[in-house]
Amino acid sequence: MHWLDIIHSTNDWASARLRSVDHPALREPELVVAGEQSAGRGRLGRPWHSDRGTLTATFVLPTDHLQPDPQLWPQVALVAGLAVCQAIEEMIGPIRASLKWPNDVLVDHRKVAGVLSEYISGSNPAVLVGIGVNVATDFQNAPAELQQRAGSLSAISRRPLDRWHYLHLLCGHFADCLTQWRQSPIEAMRACGRRCALTGHQIQAVTGGGEILQGVCQGIDDFGQLHLQTDRGEQRIRSAEVSRVR
Ligand code: BTN
Repeated sequence: MHWLDIIHSTNDWASARLRSVDHPALREPELVVAGEQSAGRGRLGRPWHSDRGTLTATFVLPTDHLQPDPQLWPQVALVAGLAVCQAIEEMIGPIRASLKWPNDVLVDHRKVAGVLSEYISGSNPAVLVGIGVNVATDFQNAPAELQQRAGSLSAISRRPLDRWHYLHLLCGHFADCLTQWRQSPIEAMRACGRRCALTGHQIQAVTGGGEILQGVCQGIDDFGQLHLQTDRGEQRIRSAEVSRVR
């Protein structure tokens, strides 16, 4: 575990470390934790708002700790989201945490966590799983748009919460979820599917290629893809930006 009091981004720090250390130095998973990030990143290059109430951490998973088939590696982001949900429920149950495919965790319709997974090639190939959880984040000075759609677990549960206690719970759940995924990726994807916040809703998906699809979400399939029923038939989406259509 690497503890950094202030760092630009745990994902960037982990990526630079992987690239600078000679093989086979990094064989075991590592955890990079920041007290504070000065340039945290979300998906699609967006900034990630956090403060000293937010858990900001990156799990570094060497690829030989994953499934042998690289096509399954993108599923690790969903597996991490599942673990984030379980740890939230253990800490502040009896609420239900859900997954907004592909990388958001929602409680009470508010985004409480996000996952940024990145594949790093080279002599130390690994998947970085960056996780930001709004354990006790203060959104008072955040942009208005974020105040409307994001939330902190302490505000939702109306009690003070400790992000290090949350990290402890998360490590246990993530280890268990990864074990389950290695044994049966399909079962793990079904567990994610049971938490899909979009199932049954009319949604719009903008794919990486810029294609816009609209339809009713049928859930997360056994391969971690989003299953959509559109006017033109069924679609399986590997990667997209998704929003609910009101
Ligand atoms: C998203 O919601 O788009 C993903 C957010 C991921 C944020 C985490 S915080 C720890 C790690 N370091 C980063 O710079 N980003 C991820």
